[in-house]
Amino acid sequence: MNASNMSAQAHSLAGRVALVTGGARGIGRAIVTHLADLGATVGVLDLKKELAEEAVAALAAKGQAAMAFGGNVAEQSTIMEAAAQLKSVHGRLDILVSNAMWVRYGPISELTPEMVRRMVGTGFESVIWGIQAADAHMGEGGSVINVSSAAAFLGLPRGLTYAGVKAGVLGLTRAGAVDLGPRGIRVNAICPGFTTTEGVMVNVTPEMVQKRLARTPMQRVGTPEDVARVAGFLASPASGFVTGEYIKVDGGATYAHL
Ligand SMILES: NC(=O)c1ccc[n+]([C@@H]2O[C@H](COP(=O)([O-])OP(=O)(O)OC[C@H]3O[C@@H](n4cnc5c(N)ncnc54)[C@H](O)[C@@H]3O)[C@@H](O)[C@H]2O)c1
Repeated sequence: MNASNMSAQAHSLAGRVALVTGGARGIGRAIVTHLADLGATVGVLDLKKELAEEAVAALAAKGQAAMAFGGNVAEQSTIMEAAAQLKSVHGRLDILVSNAMWVRYGPISELTPEMVRRMVGTGFESVIWGIQAADAHMGEGGSVINVSSAAAFLGLPRGLTYAGVKAGVLGLTRAGAVDLGPRGIRVNAICPGFTTTEGVMVNVTPEMVQKRLARTPMQRVGTPEDVARVAGFLASPASGFVTGEYIKVDGGATYAHL
């Protein structure tokens, strides 16, 4: 085998089976598309099952195998059952991307227990259930990818709960890596900066986007595909000795003091 074949193989996901939460739109949808393009069979799990089915239909139209699942990731059974079903149909589970989260920014005075519970449930507890599903269903070579945020490192205005949840995800990533490492299962995180998706546009104004741009050394906002390509790397054997780590995908924004 020549060197370029070897490096293509290190990035290939042929024969692998992946589950992506919140995979119906935004960053999750881009991850679904990219993992499928790299050769994986992908389970698309989303609160909005009809959107997950649309994503699966788009893959099927390209001849790519996929399955749709509906459910709330804050419930322990949702991810566990989807993982079990994928494994029973496709014989294995290699990649689990915990991406889904419900988010609202706002003043501290307006936080309610319901909002906080929903953010912690969808953004933090779901990551625990994802790691638990990996523990139950993955073998050697497995890869868990948790979508955190650049907000894990920043005092994000109006984002008290969000920043705390995303910082917590990095703690889960490290501890999960330590527990699952001996079985050859890796656990890593991606920390996107501002990325144009429908979900994020609910929470920001055009002025906020301009402000973010001005503070980003690479002078553009991120795309879901920027994040998806890093997920592809972390899912593949190319990152086979990387675990407990995070990769920021933010154009340098968290290091800029502009
Ligand atoms: N967009 C950004 O700028 C940005 C930046 C940093 C981190 N992130 C993180 O990336 C991830 C994806 O963000 P996005 O902007 O693509 O969001 P999005 O709102 O566009 O998409 C989120 C998807 O998750 C699904 N979802 C929401 N709650 C769910 C639940 N309880 N159970 C199952 N599915 C659920 C939604 O239906 C949707 O399809 C989130 O974890 C977010 O915090 C986003």
